[in-house]
Amino acid sequence: MKKNIISLLILMAPALAFASGGVHLEKADINLHNKASLQRGARLFVNYCLSCHSAAYMRYNRMGQDLGLTDIQVTDNLMFASEKIGQPMTVAMPASQAKNWFGKKVPDLTVVARARGADWLYSYLRGFYLDESRPWGVNNTVFKDVGMPHVLWDLQGLKKPLYETYTDHDGNEAKRITGFEVAVPGTMTEAEYDKAVNDLVNFMVYMGEPAKLERYTIGIWVMLYLIILFVVAYAMKKEFWKDIH
Ligand code: HEC
Repeated sequence: MKKNIISLLILMAPALAFASGGVHLEKADINLHNKASLQRGARLFVNYCLSCHSAAYMRYNRMGQDLGLTDIQVTDNLMFASEKIGQPMTVAMPASQAKNWFGKKVPDLTVVARARGADWLYSYLRGFYLDESRPWGVNNTVFKDVGMPHVLWDLQGLKKPLYETYTDHDGNEAKRITGFEVAVPGTMTEAEYDKAVNDLVNFMVYMGEPAKLERYTIGIWVMLYLIILFVVAYAMKKEFWKDIH
């Protein structure tokens, strides 16, 4: 038993390490009941992410049902490659090619929200900034030296970091980021962008555990069942005891 717990902790170590990475994370506002937000998030996801990343454990028709969309709505609005509605959300780019372009495997995103957490994803997608030393010209506040370009830059715009020089404990001069300024404005305002990213993260949280939506509904039925059972049981109790008092 003890051994099991220890191996479980070891398995969880990377998740715990992510969780306590020491960087400041902004809070995402996750609401899986908000179907409109999930739909907007799905749209952003298929438009901006599925060209490189797969979500191979998610099927289009399952997603449609969960998000309150018909198969036709899904086919017309959310499917751009030549997939069929019952297929998983794979990616057109072969893995070997992706490796050539990016120097690493592009991870599948189906359960990334469970591995990284919603707040991390929210901060990550808002955290790209200009850095000429990087191959894509950008770096990220929560994922240092990230290998992904800022694919949402047309929406967010590009921001330039403001540095200050300070002396570290070894007496060396070092630079740190104190803030950002807009270098290229995006098509969205900051508030609009934050909201869009929140929708996208909301969708990724749903995708990581689609059964969560079902569990909420089952929970409501169980409560209703218990309430009805209580009423019936109470009525029966009254009936049985009425002559005894
Ligand atoms: C142009 C290709 C490309 C597109 C488009 C793209 N990504 Fe990425 N993404 C990458 C690559 C490459 C990595 C691996 C980066 C690394 O490990 O340094 C990555 C990494 C990530 C990670 C980190 C995964 C992890 O746990 O290490 C997340 C999260 C992510 N992408 C989300 C997204 C989202 C959300 C979108 C859509 C808005 C998106 N990506 C669009 C190429 C892309």
